Amino acid sequence: MKIWIALLLATFAVGVSAQDQCICDSFKWATCGGTPCQCSVTVGTGENQNLDCSKLIPKCFLMKAEMFRARHGLSTRTGGKPVDTAFVDNDGIYDPDCDANGAFRAKQCNNTEVCWCVNSAGVRRTDKGDKSLRCEKLVETYWVRLELKHKAVNNAVDAAKLQDAVATAIQNRYSFDKTLVKEVQYDPKARLIVVDVQKEKGDRKADLSRMAYYMEKDVKVLPLFKDQAKFEPSVDGQKLEMENILVYYVDEEAPTFTMKRLTGGVIAVIVVVMLAVAAGLLVLFLKRRREQRYSKAEPRELEAM
Ligand SMILES: *[C@@H]1O[C@H](CO)[C@@H](O)[C@H](O)[C@H]1NC(C)=O
Repeated sequence: MKIWIALLLATFAVGVSAQDQCICDSFKWATCGGTPCQCSVTVGTGENQNLDCSKLIPKCFLMKAEMFRARHGLSTRTGGKPVDTAFVDNDGIYDPDCDANGAFRAKQCNNTEVCWCVNSAGVRRTDKGDKSLRCEKLVETYWVRLELKHKAVNNAVDAAKLQDAVATAIQNRYSFDKTLVKEVQYDPKARLIVVDVQKEKGDRKADLSRMAYYMEKDVKVLPLFKDQAKFEPSVDGQKLEMENILVYYVDEEAPTFTMKRLTGGVIAVIVVVMLAVAAGLLVLFLKRRREQRYSKAEPRELEAM
């Protein structure tokens, strides 16, 4: 009797693990099936994109899938510039045009009449224009700065060991060449880890955008991987869990934004300066009035008495 049950459980287990092999580890929303196993994801109504799940999925396909899910009410996305020309993604998600390999097309319009040019990470690098806008080529992002804030920890973090810990964690979780992690700076008070990932200009093999996007999702606790693990570098056996991430992009050519749209940071600085000036003027005004009152009002009061 016991043997029968054991045998039954064994066959069941074999059945399950055989089925488990046709899955997409690198993208939780992919569906897989057939022999040989093929995975794909829905990117539009009746439109499926085949995927290579042995690697990270191109960001352009990921965004397309997210937009499709967003439109259909399914669940989705939720230290400063390294150089002057670095910029952040203020626009968020749109429905991108991808080429067959999953690269972004240089010009994106989000299914509207408004278009803009993007870099290889799909992030806008020009002002918005109309359909006639020209984007001559896709400009490569060769450097990303990841500003990570880690959660409070019990023991002080050894800054000297941080670079290797971060590089190793990136390599393990994103199958990414750790030698491209060029510099890691640490501010213990702010719990800020600034990671510069940089490749040679002209390198078209390493894709910084995928790694950065998968990491962004991990930190925002919406991992794209099937396994819902975290990006968690470990220093001296202590794991650093992240609570925030900001990504700066540096392209092989500087972006061509005009100053029409002030960024939040610039606006904040302008407001602070204006408030300081106003406060200064108010102090001056009050002082002046008090001086006047003492010099003029007092004698008059005396006279009245
Ligand atoms: C793209 O269009 C969608 C609506 O289809 C909108 O929600 C989203 O904000 C747009 N994104 C950009 C960057 O314009």
